Amino acid sequence: MRKALMAGNWKMHNTTAEARQLAADVAKACRDFDDREVLLAPPYTVMAAVADVVKNTTIQVASQNVCWEDKGAFTGEISPVMVKDVGGSAAIIGHSERRQIFKETDELINQRVRGALKFGLTVVFCIGETLDEREGGKTFTILEEQIRKGLAGVAPEQTKDIVIAYEPVWAIGTGKTASKEQAQEAHAFIRGLIADMFEKNVADQMRILYGGSVKSTNVDELMAQPDIDGALVGGAALDAESFGRIINFQ
Ligand code: G3P
Repeated sequence: MRKALMAGNWKMHNTTAEARQLAADVAKACRDFDDREVLLAPPYTVMAAVADVVKNTTIQVASQNVCWEDKGAFTGEISPVMVKDVGGSAAIIGHSERRQIFKETDELINQRVRGALKFGLTVVFCIGETLDEREGGKTFTILEEQIRKGLAGVAPEQTKDIVIAYEPVWAIGTGKTASKEQAQEAHAFIRGLIADMFEKNVADQMRILYGGSVKSTNVDELMAQPDIDGALVGGAALDAESFGRIINFQ
């Protein structure tokens, strides 16, 4: 059985004091459960602070991106070793904001994925189609291309450290969530593709999160879908009460 993963991507929000408070409030909001995990992805500047606040809880900490080398001349980047050094255990890679605003390509994202895995981080690998691509009937072609290129060269034994986050670009920060049917259809497609690229066992074990305007009011129906194993939450993760309700989905 796949354990649910409820992840909060704070994006470019929160100073140190705000981050400490939010992390503490999220920790308080978490019920005692063993069927789900919680992950927080704060900005780099407050990762250590957040890791400190949650150190006696089961909450895990992720970076919002990561380089593939342990150190070197990569101005503006952080390494997997640095993520671990401040108490992080995972990295989000390939977020649509990285792809669209910062022009990160599938090839660059693949380099990041392989580097993060090599240094022992869990990778939350994001994919998703734009509205134009969906309306042009290209959703599955785009998802397949992003997955095949993004996970190229990943060994089957490394797949246990990969979580996929399906985030349709048109649903991010727009208040427009994919319907449970649209999300389930995409997740089932992704799982089938993973089975084809690796093996069925790998696909059965891989967690696939949905992201894009997840709220306390739609999380239950999304989480009830057979191939939705968790959520990657943006806006609603900035409010402890909302994120608490999301984490404690039925
Ligand atoms: O990574 C999370 C994300 O992009 C979704 O953001 O604000 O639509 O929940 P939001």
